[in-house]
Amino acid sequence: MIRRNVDLSRANTLGLPCRAERFLATDDIATTRDALRQAVERDWPLTVLGGGSNLVLQPWLPGLALKPTFADLRFEEVGEGDVLVHAGAGLNWHALVEALAARDLWGIENLALIPGHVGAAPIQNIGAYGVELADVLEQVHLLHLEDGQETVLDREECAFGYRDSVFKHALENRVVITRLVLRVSPQARPRLDYGDLAARLPARPCASDVVAAVSAVRREKLPDPKVLGNAGSFFKNPVVSSGHAQALLERHPTMPHFPLANGGVKLAAGWLIDQCGLKGLREGHVGTHERQALVLVHHGGGSAAELLALARHVIEEVQARFDVALEQEPRLMGRAAR
Ligand code: EPU
Repeated sequence: MIRRNVDLSRANTLGLPCRAERFLATDDIATTRDALRQAVERDWPLTVLGGGSNLVLQPWLPGLALKPTFADLRFEEVGEGDVLVHAGAGLNWHALVEALAARDLWGIENLALIPGHVGAAPIQNIGAYGVELADVLEQVHLLHLEDGQETVLDREECAFGYRDSVFKHALENRVVITRLVLRVSPQARPRLDYGDLAARLPARPCASDVVAAVSAVRREKLPDPKVLGNAGSFFKNPVVSSGHAQALLERHPTMPHFPLANGGVKLAAGWLIDQCGLKGLREGHVGTHERQALVLVHHGGGSAAELLALARHVIEEVQARFDVALEQEPRLMGRAAR
């Protein structure tokens, strides 16, 4: 049943105050189709909500907010020992990571403890510790807003990039993701190049060992959204030309930098913000995290407007000091007033 005027302040990990004009949570395809038909007929803008962990919600969300809660999980053994995992969009991502590790299936263990739902993972192509969803994704099942048709996209059609996909562009607010299919493997294939991950593990770790080590690293660096409102990294790591990177390195020889195959150089947004003296900043009800400057936090009682003002301040400081443009990562939704 579609509910009206629903409080979403607990449905976003930043804990920002927001009300949805209409809200529906469903794990039924026919009900989802019916809601999409109504949205088209009555001209309701559609917002699809997952775990709310990569959103900046403004106070009023007009139209229909739809939360898919499909929770099916099925394992299919295929050739070469691989396993296809069919996972409903409404499953908690970390619960899926744990379910695979418990079966010693390898592929997403480095993506442990990322908040949010399975269905949201392809939107920003979640990534951490040297792995991203695109490495294991086979298919995305979805329903189209215009005609309720169910289609299946393969990996190429998702146009994955760094924190990017077709779901942020051509298909934004036009589809409801119902299920993912991931290809994972019972063959051990640990990817432990990041930081001191390998040093935290035994010589032959099982997948659950990697989940535990990655979770420990995340707990050390990143705030738990249940304790302190946040949406993970608030900015993407920027890519600059090699000439620009070289000039910055002359001034800052210890600057973290990662040359890319296309000739660009990726910089660490957290380091840039930190160098501006903005780590652990608090302005009113919002601030930057004390251990990871890239994460903006909401201490409670604040608003999207306050958070966005802080984000602008951070962007301006980094621009002025390094001539680097930071780009916001979480998606902005809703509007300031009814
Ligand atoms: N750094 C600082 N000060 C800070 C933060 C970072 O000096 O306040 C330095 C670190 O010492 C390190 C470098 O910057 O040398 C990179 O920091 P870190 O390893 O913490 O990773 P990141 O590039 O800041 C990215 C992802 C994270 C992901 C980690 C690990 C983005 C935007 N963020 O962060 O993803 O967990 O790598 O793979 O790509 C997220 O998307 O929400 C997220 C948390």
